[in-house]
Amino acid sequence: MNKRTIWMVMTSGLVMILLFSLAACQGESEQGEPATIAEKKDINPNGSSELALMMREMHEAAVAAKAEIEKGQTPGITVDFAHMTEAEPTNPKMIAFEEFEPLAKSYITAMQALATAEDSTQAAQAYTTVINTCMSCHEVSCKGPIPRIKRLYLAP
Ligand code: HEC
Repeated sequence: MNKRTIWMVMTSGLVMILLFSLAACQGESEQGEPATIAEKKDINPNGSSELALMMREMHEAAVAAKAEIEKGQTPGITVDFAHMTEAEPTNPKMIAFEEFEPLAKSYITAMQALATAEDSTQAAQAYTTVINTCMSCHEVSCKGPIPRIKRLYLAP
């Protein structure tokens, strides 16, 4: 190998590491494990895990619910995230903590309360509880999306 080839191999290696750490929880000092991530059966060319995709849908559902509540409506929640605890994460370490399941369950319960809210006042309260459950899990599991989650709170 000449110098140029070595340089190219090293640079692409660094780019890969960078991409993997971006795909994982940004903001966390997670050690990327490229091999395991690359081996995963992938649904997405960007290499997103099942749980990461579900989180994006959860985020979109929250954005939609927020807009409806702000218009004084009760949001129509149609998505079901009850199987969250079975979704595969980018890295098993992300969910390898005792509170993961109870926190996931409190999120699911909060979503059910939001889905059955009878008026906009109830909906606003239930919605805030939902965002609180997002926050409490993210404080333990992955801090990267916290700024985005904070923006989901209703204006006081
Ligand atoms: C029980 C824990 C838990 C709860 C509750 C939770 N999250 Fe997550 N979230 C995670 C974990 C773990 C990941 C990392 C998933 C992965 O990379 O596989 C994640 C990833 C994300 C991501 C990044 C997805 C991506 O593009 O890689 C966003 C955005 C997110 N969550 C938003 C939310 C929002 C909004 C809520 C509430 C509506 C929420 N989360 C509730 C644990 C949780």
